[in-house]
Amino acid sequence: ASSTEIDISAIQPGQAIKAIFRKQPVFVRNLTPKEIEEANGVDVGSLRDPQTLKERTKEGKENWLITMGVCTHLGCVPLGAGEGEVKGEFGGYFCPCHGSSYDTAARIRKGPAPKNLEVPEYAFASDTVVKIG
Ligand code: FES
Repeated sequence: ASSTEIDISAIQPGQAIKAIFRKQPVFVRNLTPKEIEEANGVDVGSLRDPQTLKERTKEGKENWLITMGVCTHLGCVPLGAGEGEVKGEFGGYFCPCHGSSYDTAARIRKGPAPKNLEVPEYAFASDTVVKIG
């Protein structure tokens, strides 16, 4: 299977970019300390798809949130990575198709999507390069 390397060196805290992995969008987001705090402040048991930010990131790199950019409802591409600052009411991503809102850990918080944005298999090739797949 093919993998994709992404240079993350230019992604500032608070920014997210959209890349392509196996013909699908993937979001790479550099979380701010406040966004990390927000994600960690949520009662995980109250979530539709209960996962901690820690479980969705790599140890020591918890500011790097890497997810597929594919809404788990019907597959639209959520907003919030690259095309302005449309992050929805929970500060992460917003799917304009039917209004699913994801939080700063890209966990589903409101709307019809059943699952959090999927975290693909990935590894840090270096401090500035992520290899997806
Ligand atoms: Fe995203 Fe329906 S496809 S809310």
